[in-house]
Amino acid sequence: MEDFPIANQDSDCDCEACGPRETGCAAAQANTDVKLPIYMDYNATTPIDPRVLDAMMPYLTDTFGNAASRSHPFGWAAEAGVEKSRKQIADLIGAEAKSIVFTSGATESDNLAIKGVAEMYKDKGNHIITCLAEHKAVLDPCKRLEKHGYEITWLKPDQYGQVSAQQVADAITDKTILISIMAANNEIGTTNPIAEIGKVAKQREVLLHCDATQATGKTPLDVEEMGVDLLSMSSHKIYGPKGVGILYVRRRGPRVRLTCQMDGGGHERGMRSGTLNVPGIVGMGAAAELSSTEQADDTARLTELRDRLEKGIFSQLEYVILNGHPTDRLANTVNLSFAYVEGESLMMKVKHVAVSSGSACTSASLEPSHVLRSMDVTDDLAHSSIRFSLGRFSTVAEVDYAVEHVAQAVKELRKLSPLYEMAMEGVDINKVKWKAD
Ligand SMILES: Cc1ncc(COP(=O)(O)O)c(C=O)c1O
Repeated sequence: MEDFPIANQDSDCDCEACGPRETGCAAAQANTDVKLPIYMDYNATTPIDPRVLDAMMPYLTDTFGNAASRSHPFGWAAEAGVEKSRKQIADLIGAEAKSIVFTSGATESDNLAIKGVAEMYKDKGNHIITCLAEHKAVLDPCKRLEKHGYEITWLKPDQYGQVSAQQVADAITDKTILISIMAANNEIGTTNPIAEIGKVAKQREVLLHCDATQATGKTPLDVEEMGVDLLSMSSHKIYGPKGVGILYVRRRGPRVRLTCQMDGGGHERGMRSGTLNVPGIVGMGAAAELSSTEQADDTARLTELRDRLEKGIFSQLEYVILNGHPTDRLANTVNLSFAYVEGESLMMKVKHVAVSSGSACTSASLEPSHVLRSMDVTDDLAHSSIRFSLGRFSTVAEVDYAVEHVAQAVKELRKLSPLYEMAMEGVDINKVKWKAD
């Protein structure tokens, strides 16, 4: 990674991070101990908590056995680490340890849940309900199944990116075998009423899968209260290592059966073959235990930081739109559209603040985010959007620094924008007849 300087330790700073003198060293002067670059992309991934790393270290060195080696102490020690983790993760979601299946991450968990149910219950029905704002790890397995003759109902979320239990209830038919709705959206942080959807699913005897990748560690999760039968989680979103996740699979009331998607040695009670990633699993367990004990405090602190960020930006800039639900939203996520500014240009201008934009780079073009599109956000505003996601190691000084620099950058980019100028002169941009039209 590029080695960024510490922001403005002397008042003459003219460094790359602070930009030319007139573009806002004032902000950095107020925040002398901000270390650049600042990480505000915790929904993409989180750093490993040092306490998690400590728990993993023995399993990366001396305790290297294969957890499936039943005949010697090396295997027993590895297995003990795995079983401890299984219990730590189960405790986080109010489940029994045996219902936790280890995978390589939430993408695999989502695939196993959706394709595993589709194949196992194909004699019962071929209809699946999901939402257009889900992560690709849910959308793409559903699309694949659609190609193979399954019927998918793609629920459209409301303007905040939320689906209702009523929408789900209305979509259920006698062929429905699975509902897959996420607990919280990765781009906008909007949470869904999973417990209400769970009640509908139970009444109508349809299985409910919930992608809880972003909700884990940020909101309390209890599989009984939520009424979910399958739940996906990922280690690297909760300060654990990458390449590990779990799928919770309900064992009673009802007992959920899955067709495995990985054939082999029959690990994980036949649901997911493959030698277990013991250090990763131990790390995920330690991370889950920290989430259990620290989630409430983390959430309270993050809510304050998030509100500070939001208020700071709204107090300095006009024409900023919040994407996502104003209240039913993760404590760490702020997704804003800065009208008349390209999100990508803004990110380049404040590249020492790590955020992400609402445009996804595909090979040929910049596609506006499918999540924002599903909420009817216009392409222009989708291209103007930036997601700030805070986390356990975010500080007040970092938030203040980001507010000042983002506000300054938006003002400068708008000065260069003919569209902004026209809008300020009272021209309705949407009614302009462009020459090429
Ligand atoms: C909601 C959601 N589901 C699934 C995933 C995929 O997780 P993983 O990286 O563990 O495969 C992500 C990752 O961004 C996510 O945010």
